[in-house]
Amino acid sequence: MKQYKNLIQAAQKAMNNAYAPYSKFQVGAVVVDEKQQVHVGCNVENSAYPLGVCAESSAISAMVLAGGTRIKKILLVATGTQMVTPCGGCRQKIKEFADDETQILIYHAGQIKQFKLEELLPYSFS
Ligand code: THU
Repeated sequence: MKQYKNLIQAAQKAMNNAYAPYSKFQVGAVVVDEKQQVHVGCNVENSAYPLGVCAESSAISAMVLAGGTRIKKILLVATGTQMVTPCGGCRQKIKEFADDETQILIYHAGQIKQFKLEELLPYSFS
């Protein structure tokens, strides 16, 4: 857990900036790329609901913008009483930049749960 402290803090800071007036469900994401650079994202909703952007998607865009090409780790935090896992669309977006070792980390209630993409998106399209 101690090893993830900085990532958790970065994700929480991003989460606090989330724009989620409709769902009131704030999500923060941190991507660590192949150069160990850290990129953050939060969900940004819209009154035209389908136009909202997930935190993972926003962090992946930040990574690409900064020149990163591979997701080594992605860590998520969210408000709410249940653990958040990436939505189906974000699983596919992670897949685009992931490899077999990519760690998907979820921080909830003081604990980290770790997944491989294969567990969350088996038989995926690429
Ligand atoms: N959301 C994310 O940002 N990431 C997820 O993995 C699940 C859902 C956002 C989308 C929307 O703004 C809010 O959470 C409620 O669905």
